[in-house]
Amino acid sequence: MEETQTKQPGSPQEDPLYAISYENARLEEENKNLKRTVQFYQAELEKFRTPPFIVSEVISITDEQKAIVKLPNQSNFLVEISNTMKEDLKVGDTVVNEQKSLVVTDKINLSKNFPVENYVIVSHDLKVSWKDIGGLSREVEKVKEVLEMPLKDPKTFEEMGITPPKGVLLYGPPGTGKTMIAKALAKETNATFIELVGSELVQKFIGEGAKLVKELFQMAREKGPTIIFIDEVDAIAARRVENGTSGEREVQRTFMQLLGEIDGFDALSNVKIIAATNRIDILDEAIIRPGRLERHIEVKPPEVEGRLEILKIHTKSMKLKKHVDLQEIAQKADHFSGAELKALTTEAGYLAIKNKKSEISQEHLLEAIEIVKEKEDVYEPLTHSYN
Ligand SMILES: Nc1ncnc2c1ncn2[C@@H]1O[C@H](COP(=O)(O)OP(=O)(O)OP(=O)(O)O)[C@@H](O)[C@H]1O
Ligand SMILES: [Mg+2]
Repeated sequence: MEETQTKQPGSPQEDPLYAISYENARLEEENKNLKRTVQFYQAELEKFRTPPFIVSEVISITDEQKAIVKLPNQSNFLVEISNTMKEDLKVGDTVVNEQKSLVVTDKINLSKNFPVENYVIVSHDLKVSWKDIGGLSREVEKVKEVLEMPLKDPKTFEEMGITPPKGVLLYGPPGTGKTMIAKALAKETNATFIELVGSELVQKFIGEGAKLVKELFQMAREKGPTIIFIDEVDAIAARRVENGTSGEREVQRTFMQLLGEIDGFDALSNVKIIAATNRIDILDEAIIRPGRLERHIEVKPPEVEGRLEILKIHTKSMKLKKHVDLQEIAQKADHFSGAELKALTTEAGYLAIKNKKSEISQEHLLEAIEIVKEKEDVYEPLTHSYN
């Protein structure tokens, strides 16, 4: 059969020179690909050969441009800083150190990854308002005046040239309504409520306490208006007992960070702090001095009138018999805190249910006083000191 297909001049089949250069180009391309593959595996291999770096925190920078870093095992080292790092290294930075010499070689930005929301309680729509708090009208008035007014109307304060307190300390025995006051303030000012519990901070976040405090204030500024509620503040801010353990130093660092953060924000900003404690007697003066938590409001167990108010609040939606005399109950529930009065009303409800009654009677309430007294070991003022 006759060849019908005409060959193109200069095609590889026809021109041997073209065929060679074509093959050449193909091989060069393949060579490049192989080089890239080798480079990739070399880089991967390098990763396996690289020793791990140590991560530490800069706690001080000396005049000689050296850094004191704190390692995760809590020991401190004075180390050199790589020249490329000298410019922008700050105290508090998280850095990487070469293993042997501990030279600071790089900075890492952990703060963005630190999930502060996982460590504190952040709430927006709380249920407690001022009317749910009984027998504390003077205390509530003070909180309103000192924190609520400047939060709602900072301009007036600014114009008047008054610097309102950044925060208050609520102190008194357990179950008297301190947490309620903080929550109600957040609710009434439509503020974000950030709760941090001092004892948890100390127990759970070893090594992270100071960072948590820093991030928490940052979050508070972003989410403002914000009420930062520090419960059991004595766990962080107790007067120092120099025992020199690393745990103690860690608490100390957290405390210093807290003081720094309080100092660092503007009194007229939309962040306010409420701290609470049962132990004002052991608090470090530094936290309660002017400019910090300068107002101290004592929240005492209620007197008889207060107890009556609290009983009314907690029985408001309960079914009480018509002739129930809450005044008598308030008188007999001597030394009861708000929390115990609430427990009393719940116990009375249980008694009514147990006795198959549809309403709570005076007898149920009287019996409930005894039950709570036995159960709760009702606070006796003379056995503790809160001054
Ligand atoms: N003054 C009060 N008026 C109404 N209810 C109260 C009052 N005080 C306490 N209670 C009741 O007791 C519960 C506990 O109160 P709260 O948590 O505010 O006490 P606290 O002072 O913060 O105690 P602690 O020191 O143990 O943290 C409240 O949820 C509420 O039901
Ligand atoms: Mg509380």
